[in-house]
Amino acid sequence: MVAVAVSWGWFLGAVPLLCLAFWHAADAWYRAVFFLKHRSGKGANGIRPRLPPGHMGLPFLGETMSLLWYFKHVRRPDDFIGAKRRAYGGEKVGMYRTHLFGSPTIVACMPATNKFIFQAGSDTFGIHWPVPELVGLSSIVNVEGSNHTRVRGVILGAINRPSSLRTIAATVQPGVVAALNSWADMGTIVASNEAKKMFISMEPSSLTVKMDQWFTSLVAGLRAFPLDFPGTACHDARKCRRKLNTVFQAELEDRKNTNKKYDDVMSGFMELEDEQGKKLSDDEVVDNIVSVVVAGYESTASAIMWATYHLAKCPDVLAKLREENMMMSKRKGRSSFITHDDIPKMKYTTKVVEETIRMANIAPMTHRVAKRDVEYGGYTIPKGWQVLVLVRSLHTDPNYYEDPLTFNPDRWDEPAKPGTYQVFGGGNRICPGNMLARLQLTIMLHHLSIGYE
Ligand code: HEM
Repeated sequence: MVAVAVSWGWFLGAVPLLCLAFWHAADAWYRAVFFLKHRSGKGANGIRPRLPPGHMGLPFLGETMSLLWYFKHVRRPDDFIGAKRRAYGGEKVGMYRTHLFGSPTIVACMPATNKFIFQAGSDTFGIHWPVPELVGLSSIVNVEGSNHTRVRGVILGAINRPSSLRTIAATVQPGVVAALNSWADMGTIVASNEAKKMFISMEPSSLTVKMDQWFTSLVAGLRAFPLDFPGTACHDARKCRRKLNTVFQAELEDRKNTNKKYDDVMSGFMELEDEQGKKLSDDEVVDNIVSVVVAGYESTASAIMWATYHLAKCPDVLAKLREENMMMSKRKGRSSFITHDDIPKMKYTTKVVEETIRMANIAPMTHRVAKRDVEYGGYTIPKGWQVLVLVRSLHTDPNYYEDPLTFNPDRWDEPAKPGTYQVFGGGNRICPGNMLARLQLTIMLHHLSIGYE
């Protein structure tokens, strides 16, 4: 009897102790490694370097399951960082240590901290993709330094200059009007699916349907755990990436063998030369064209889908939007096509666009990797650690936006507090498609509000 009681005692005491030890093992390990590395060193202020507060979670898994739980299961993504704030120092601390997607990680979530990371040079924070082949090895989102500047210049020229935006506005509008007509004919639509087709200039065919599926799987793979074996999202995404590369490679070959002039991003990439007159290789052209489509296509479609959702929920906003756009339409006459230069006059529509993008949080976080030990705010971000800039936590923070989860375009009567609106990132990787995304959304809202209930 005594022996049984002792065994139970051991068991009941040992199990919680083992669990506790298991829970703290990874954190203790990383702290020990950091301590040993810095035991004789002094930081910038003569203080011994220290890790940002936080916890590394379970061995190997880290806190990935917890992040996914908040983002995907309970659908309260802000509670992930909210829990950290409550546990480790409230509003004052702008970053936390954790372990996500297989890497030790610092999550940044304050305007000043995020800005510091965005604006530090690529020798301080580089690019980190768990599976670089998925985004393309020579794509803008993967390259750094002069290669990045070179490719970025082409993309900015093709989609961000006022002259390009004027051309794009004129080119895409007939397609938007036709798409809205077809929505009306269908009666009920799945906005997230239909919005994707709205700005694709390729003639619809069985190939474009397949490409749409391949792009969707590719994006799913980029967001999935980087496990690559048959049946995983990452494996599927790799296959889709190869198929997309083949399609664009064939398009590239066709263009090389014709005299026809194209005025689009792909031809921009094909014609680009560096100072030595060297052109981009075919692989570089294909990698970048796929990246631009991935970055622009899903994000804009998602913003359009959210705009239709909020307008359906907020009839008063729709009424004001309609009033402004009806007036614009009357001024424009029969075709009612707006131009890029009309946009500054569409004050209420612009507020609806900004509020939609703020609430949609389409890119909730961006990724970097620390290329050296980086000191900031009294803490050290260790070399080699992944850095996640969680921009969405700013856009849903009641300290920066009153009643942040309410769709209220009128909040944009005042500009956002400095540094609290980072939907398009910042620094030298700020989204080059930000004006295009706003333009596309404005065009769609104009035609939706003047033509349909
Ligand atoms: C509402 C729509 C959009 C949102 C919220 C958005 C958001 C972002 C963010 C946050 C970044 C920065 C990533 C980082 O710092 O690593 C980014 C980069 C990028 N975006 Fe967008 N984007 C949108 C639309 C577009 C469109 C329409 C295009 C092009 C057609 C585009 C092309 C790109 C490209 C090429 C990059 C990489 C820039 C670089 O690494 O230099 N985006 N986007």
